[in-house]
Amino acid sequence: MSRKINSVAVLGAGTMGIGIAGLAAEHDCKVLMLDVSMEAAEKALERIVNGRPPAIDTPGKEANITLGTLEDDLEKIADYDWVCEAVIEDLATKRALFDCLEPLRKDGSVVSTNTSGIPLRDITAGMPERLLKDVCVTHFFNPVKIMKLCELVPSTQTDPEVVDAFRDYLGGVMGKGVVNAKDTVNFIGNRIGCFWMLMGLHAATHARAAGLSQERIDALMSKPMGLPPTGLYGLIDLIGLDVMDFVGKNLALNLPKDDAGRAFTKFPAAEQALFERGQLGRKSGGGFYRVSKLDDGSKKKETFDLDTGEWRDAEVVALDVGADVMFDDSADGAFAWGIMGGTLAYAADLVPEISDDIVNIDRAMRWGFGWSKGPFELIDAIGPGRFAEQCRAKLGHTPKMLGVLETAGAESFYTEDGRSFLGLDGKLHKVPAE
Ligand SMILES: NC(=O)c1ccc[n+]([C@@H]2O[C@H](COP(=O)([O-])OP(=O)(O)OC[C@H]3O[C@@H](n4cnc5c(N)ncnc54)[C@H](O)[C@@H]3O)[C@@H](O)[C@H]2O)c1
Repeated sequence: MSRKINSVAVLGAGTMGIGIAGLAAEHDCKVLMLDVSMEAAEKALERIVNGRPPAIDTPGKEANITLGTLEDDLEKIADYDWVCEAVIEDLATKRALFDCLEPLRKDGSVVSTNTSGIPLRDITAGMPERLLKDVCVTHFFNPVKIMKLCELVPSTQTDPEVVDAFRDYLGGVMGKGVVNAKDTVNFIGNRIGCFWMLMGLHAATHARAAGLSQERIDALMSKPMGLPPTGLYGLIDLIGLDVMDFVGKNLALNLPKDDAGRAFTKFPAAEQALFERGQLGRKSGGGFYRVSKLDDGSKKKETFDLDTGEWRDAEVVALDVGADVMFDDSADGAFAWGIMGGTLAYAADLVPEISDDIVNIDRAMRWGFGWSKGPFELIDAIGPGRFAEQCRAKLGHTPKMLGVLETAGAESFYTEDGRSFLGLDGKLHKVPAE
C-alpha cells in the first residue's frame, strides 16, 4: 500500500505546531489543529495569521485549518492522513498522547513526533506494531516557514513506504530540505550544534581567563567561521538557558557512555548562576546581552560581564580573520581551535553513528544552524591534512572520517566539482539531489 499525505492533524498548537499547521495550510493541505483548550487553539490561529512573522503568507489559506481540543476532538484524526504530534518536550506527555491517538487514527495514516531530541524508541516503547510501522520523527526547526531543515528519523520498524510518504510531502510539498537521521539522541543538527554550544561555553570560560571578551568570542564564532552573526553567547541568548539546561540533562541521560559530549552536559559556574536566577536570554529581557530602546528611539546594547557580574556597554569587535585562525598560536587561535576544531572532530567521529554519510551532516548544519559550510565542507576548506595533524597533536586521536580519508589517500571529503563525496567505505559516491 503506498501512502499519500493530503491532510494533517497537528496535535499541540505551540510555536512548532503553529509553524507546521501554517505551512501545511499554505500548501492547501487540510489541517486539524488541536490544543489543550479552544481558547489556546484560537490564539494559535490568530498567531498563524497575524504573528510576527505570520505562519501563513497567503491571505485566506487559514480557511484550510479546523480547530479543536485534544480532549473533545481527538477522534477527528480518523479523517487525516498524517498525525503530527507537537506537544511539549516531555516523554510522559508524548507517550500518553500516543496511547490515545493510536486507536483513533485510520489505517494507512502516518504518525510523527516533532521531538527535538528524545529518542523515538523511548516515545514508542511497548506500543502496538501498527504504530511502530507507521511512525517517524519529523524534526522541524524554528521558525518552520523559514528554516530549511527537517530531519526525518524512522524507527527500526518503520515501513519504507512511510518514510517515502514523509519525504515526498516534506520535501516535495512543504519545500523542506529533508535530512536522513537516525534514532540517536538529538539526531544530527542538535547533536553537533548543542555540543558546539555546551562545550563552547566551557572553551569560552578558558578564553575569558586568557583575556578574550565575550564580544570577541562571539565575533570569532561568527563570520570568520562562516557561522551566523549571533556567535556563541548570542545564539544561547536566542534559545534560552532553560532550553539549554534541558538539552544538557537529556544528553546526560542518553549520550553513549564514551561520548565526548558527556564532559559538557552542565553549564560552567557563571552560566549556572545566570540560569538559577532566571536570566535566561532574550525571553527574560536579557541574558548575556540586552538591548534597550533609548528615549531618542536609538537602541543600546549592553553585555552582562560574566566575570564582574555587572552590565556594561557592549564592545564592537571587528575581526579580519578566517577559519584558519584556529591554527594560530594566539589566545584567539586557542579558543577557535578549542570550540570549532573540537566540534569538527566530534562530527568526524559520528559517522556512521548519527548519519550514514557526511552529506546529511553537512546539510543538517547548513540548513538547521545556518552554517555557511557544514563540518566536512569546512574541513575541506581549511585543509584535511593540517586538520588531522592538529587533532593528533591536541586531541590525541585521528577522528574517524579523517582516518577514512587518510587510508583512502584522498585529499578532501568532496571532489572539486562538489558532485561526489567520500563514503565511510573510502570510495567516492554521488552527492544525492537536495
Ligand atoms: N521551539 C523550538 O525551537 C523547537 C524546535 C524543534 C522542535 N521542537 C519540539 O517541538 C515540540 C513542541 O515545542 P514548542 O516549542 O512548539 O512548544 P510550545 O511550548 O510552544 O507548545 C507546546 C504545546 O503543547 C501544549 N501542551 C502543553 N501541555 C500539554 C499536555 N500536557 N498535553 C498536551 N499538550 C500540551 C501547549 O498548550 C502548547 O500549545 C517539542 O517537542 C519541542 O522540543 C521545538
